[in-house]
Amino acid sequence: MKTVAVLISGRGSNLLNLLECARNYKIIAVYSNKAEALGLQYAERFQIPYFIFAKNTEYSALEQKTKLFEHLANLNPDLIALAGFMSIVPTDFIQKFPSRIINIHPALLPKFPGLNTHQRAIDAKEKEHGCTVHYVDEGIDTGEIIAQASCPLLPEDTEDALASRVLKLEHQLYPEVLNNLSA
Ligand code: GRF
Repeated sequence: MKTVAVLISGRGSNLLNLLECARNYKIIAVYSNKAEALGLQYAERFQIPYFIFAKNTEYSALEQKTKLFEHLANLNPDLIALAGFMSIVPTDFIQKFPSRIINIHPALLPKFPGLNTHQRAIDAKEKEHGCTVHYVDEGIDTGEIIAQASCPLLPEDTEDALASRVLKLEHQLYPEVLNNLSA
């Protein structure tokens, strides 16, 4: 049974799925860099310890980021799953945890790294779109690909329609990968 920490910044639908579909892994902590992240409700619901390191009147975002990753390094989970965590993981941390930090990205990498992937895929008139689970390296969405899932991109697709189709794929793929890596 591998231990996993999940890092979020917002809605947390992937976190919820990872919690619901955990077979071979156990989520032992949730971290957020946003105090208002909606996903924190799922950590509460599943009674998982959660930690918020958000910019406040006392500490800058950068100071809080340093503290978050110090705390996470001390916890030392087997795997670290980024799930909508909107911040760059520090290089020294990546080097300390080789092949243990995983991300889900809403595009078929190496196409469309970065933000606004769905609209960019529509604009590029792609025939298909999807999501990628990959190891995190020092680049933006450049780490080794572990698994992908794809769906058709329809000519009439809006950004929202496409995003919700891809999100369904994300919710299948991410727990599947974590269960496989933990088996
Ligand atoms: C997902 O689309 C994920 O691929 C991307 O950020 C989004 C997070 O959504 N990295 P949620 O917070 O898991 O609902």
